Amino acid sequence: MEGPRSPREAELPHVLDFLTKNLRSEAPWSIAAEYPTALTSNNIHNMRIIADEDRVVSHAVMKPLIIKSPHVIYKVGAIGSVVTDDKHRGQGLSTQIINDCLKSATEQSCDIAILWTDLFDFYRRMGFELAGSEISFVIEENFDVPPINLRFSTDPKVSPDAIYRLYSSHSVNSVRTIEETRKFLAIPETKVYTAWEPNGQLAAYAIEGKGIDLGGYIHEWGGSVSKLMALFSFIRVQKNQPFTVICPRHATNLIEQMQRKPVTMNQGFLGMIKLVNFDQLAAKIKRAFRAEGVSDIVLEKHPDHFLFGIGQDLYTINNETDMVRLLFGPIDYRAIGIFKEETVQKFEKIFPLALWIWGWDSI
Ligand SMILES: CC(C)(COP(=O)(O)OP(=O)(O)OC[C@H]1O[C@@H](n2cnc3c(N)ncnc32)[C@H](O)[C@@H]1OP(=O)(O)O)[C@@H](O)C(=O)NCCC(=O)NCCS
Repeated sequence: MEGPRSPREAELPHVLDFLTKNLRSEAPWSIAAEYPTALTSNNIHNMRIIADEDRVVSHAVMKPLIIKSPHVIYKVGAIGSVVTDDKHRGQGLSTQIINDCLKSATEQSCDIAILWTDLFDFYRRMGFELAGSEISFVIEENFDVPPINLRFSTDPKVSPDAIYRLYSSHSVNSVRTIEETRKFLAIPETKVYTAWEPNGQLAAYAIEGKGIDLGGYIHEWGGSVSKLMALFSFIRVQKNQPFTVICPRHATNLIEQMQRKPVTMNQGFLGMIKLVNFDQLAAKIKRAFRAEGVSDIVLEKHPDHFLFGIGQDLYTINNETDMVRLLFGPIDYRAIGIFKEETVQKFEKIFPLALWIWGWDSI
């Protein structure tokens, strides 16, 4: 058994073949088509394999993302395509590979690592915890909005520049290039819905589906709230079946408008998160608080606990996973009742940290 290590360039087709056979056996496309920025030779140094006599038997990939938000610029290591050949399972191979991805994320100055899974207990053993927030709305019924002077389209041939322009206006988003947007638009099973101004400018977009995942889910969208609502109304008529819109908790205007409609709102987690460079993240958070006029925030990591609070209103947090939920949510500071009201009010200037990862970046 050899590894974990990065594949060599010449091994890449073999690695992609292993992943496609194990994770996409039913799909007529290569898994690389679904993750064009992660499973590519440009990111080969972040892929990890274990090989047995030249055969790949286990794999995971890490894709570093720069996420801009109003208060903090994060570096996030997104981990995905975790798989071990079925004859080699239960020997600790995936655990070794993920720990190696985490080491690499730490070395590359990521603040946190994140992944999306339903194997919660498997990843809890490695220190990940469900954290952050995601709001989703299931649009089941008619979704009527007042008439608006827009032209709607399902033509997938949309210029990546136009999508990119609206994407760039989000308050929380990853740093992407137009070329990356072009690659994301080409992912199999991607449906593109657009709304156009009379002058031909893109007013709103919504993206559904991503390879074998996210069919029936709008996982990327952009444009002003009123134009998006009109676009969702068009999608409801067009699809003639229910669909779900995923959105960040800080999209308060959209959430408010959606709640006035006959939709089902669900609250979930952004993903499973693990802290990988606590001191670096703490320094960013303290800087953000200082910019808001709060200079006495305490956020310290000690060998067996964290010290957290403002001024003299301090608490000891024993678990890293509790710390993750305090920073990114969904813990409600007021409801837990341990901090003074004035501390809670100061916390609320920054916490929970606005962190969001749009669907195309999930791996
Ligand atoms: C999940 C998977 C990657 C684990 O690979 P692996 O190399 O066997 O993992 P490890 O040997 O490091 O760890 C196995 C341990 O995890 C546990 N485990 C496996 N699946 C689990 C699950 N669904 N929930 C909780 N624990 C799980 C095993 O019981 C084993 O525990 P033990 O060591 O106490 O016996 C592998 O089963 C796999 O490839 N599954 C199919 C693809 C998949 O689901 N990938 C995850 C996508 S997020």
